Amino acid sequence: MTTPDRNTITIEPSRRLRRYDRMIFGQFLEHFHRQVYGGLFEPGSPLADEHGFRMDVVEALGELRVPIVRWPGGCFASAYHWEHGVGADRQPSYDKAWSVEDPNTFGTDEFVAWCRLIGAEPYICTNAGSGGPEEMSNWVEYCNLESMGRWARMRRANGSKAPHRVRYWSVGNENYGAWEIGTKTRDEWGRLVAESAKMMKRVDPGIVLLAAALPDVDWTMELLRQAGGYLDYVSIHGYWDALHQENRPGGYEACVSRCLAPEDAIRKTRQIIAGAGYEGRIGIAFDEWNLRGWHHPDKGGAAFADVRARDKNDLNSTYTMADAVFSASFLNTCLRHCDAVGMANMSPVINTRGPLFVHPRGIVKRTTFHVMAMYANHLRDNVADARVESSPLEYAEKSVPVLDAVATCDDDRSHWSIAVVNRHPDRETACELSLGGGGLSGQHDALVLSGPAPDAYNDVECPDRVAPARASLTFEDGRGSFPPHSVTILKIGP
Ligand code: AHR
Repeated sequence: MTTPDRNTITIEPSRRLRRYDRMIFGQFLEHFHRQVYGGLFEPGSPLADEHGFRMDVVEALGELRVPIVRWPGGCFASAYHWEHGVGADRQPSYDKAWSVEDPNTFGTDEFVAWCRLIGAEPYICTNAGSGGPEEMSNWVEYCNLESMGRWARMRRANGSKAPHRVRYWSVGNENYGAWEIGTKTRDEWGRLVAESAKMMKRVDPGIVLLAAALPDVDWTMELLRQAGGYLDYVSIHGYWDALHQENRPGGYEACVSRCLAPEDAIRKTRQIIAGAGYEGRIGIAFDEWNLRGWHHPDKGGAAFADVRARDKNDLNSTYTMADAVFSASFLNTCLRHCDAVGMANMSPVINTRGPLFVHPRGIVKRTTFHVMAMYANHLRDNVADARVESSPLEYAEKSVPVLDAVATCDDDRSHWSIAVVNRHPDRETACELSLGGGGLSGQHDALVLSGPAPDAYNDVECPDRVAPARASLTFEDGRGSFPPHSVTILKIGP
């Protein structure tokens, strides 16, 4: 990688401020491997409460101030019948998405209760694969009607007298893909979303509605043509280190060289929404994102059938400062596009590739947990205009700026938190930072996540090898520097 020569961060405090939606710090939970069973839900564990919720997990997610959790999938959703997961008599189902048995002991009522426990909005992804508009709208009845009809009465009989008040719903998951149960053509998809949305909104006109989309004109323009009038967001997904078949995680440079890819997807989707005439009315929900694709290889010609291989997602050495630098870059991108991106959900929240690893005796906060905590707790409410000029880092015909930064401030512009990413694998990066025309000077508090090396990670044996450190950064006439392979929240103000 080349050595950058001059890097500047120029912040214009007098220009417009844009309030971002905290839903960009959202999370995703799927019935896959050990995310639910053996993850957040472990009845009988000494670490679980009377409902089977791991309380160490609840406490850790409280640190992230998780605003929203999407559930139950993902591919799982496309063959999931929600009625199997409610009521006293839970019979196991064969999960056709992931070729395992699901005990159904964690269903809608448990999910909503868990979301309320961690302080997050529940967001339900419905079955547009083997299901249809009636099953989707019945689910809305079950969750949101007070007492009218059989489904609301069923909820009350199951012990929840008050409605669950689930506001966020999506029609389907990736029904554009051949891998998905219930793949649709774009024409079929537009019509199904419209009919499903019609029935769901007839039950509760106040729901916020999303639908599976792509940064692809053909698919999403047709979706918006047929169903745009019902939608609040289009949902897009991204995984940039594709590992589902071969579990060979990319190294630091290879991963960091992909940091600009999420913005391509956002820009294309924004153009399509604008082209369909919905700019400012329909937002983007990046409701599955992770540097690392999940490992679920095919076996003997059957998609995703090698179940035992999924244990490789649990290798904590996979999740290094590459994941932290990429994730911080991703969140910076969402912040820069906060006028269009209103939600993002890390995929997933627990185990698999998530920020929190859960094992029978406790938890491990992976590097990405610390990034999510830094952003969720230390940024200010508004994104200010900031221009970053930075020399390139080149790797394998890709080029990314060595520095990435987003400036946030409170409403009166008195307190600032600048999120700065130094992508260089082994060099401290100097830069000139100006705020309102003057170069920054003096000592300023900061929170720095860097770890001892680019490939540093946390695991059960050493859970704090990588952890945020408080620091005091010195600037003189704007000149300062950031450690290699680091994510910094720089605080400016009284
Ligand atoms: O690899 C996990 C899968 O990725 C999710 O279930 C699906 O939504 C996406 O294709």
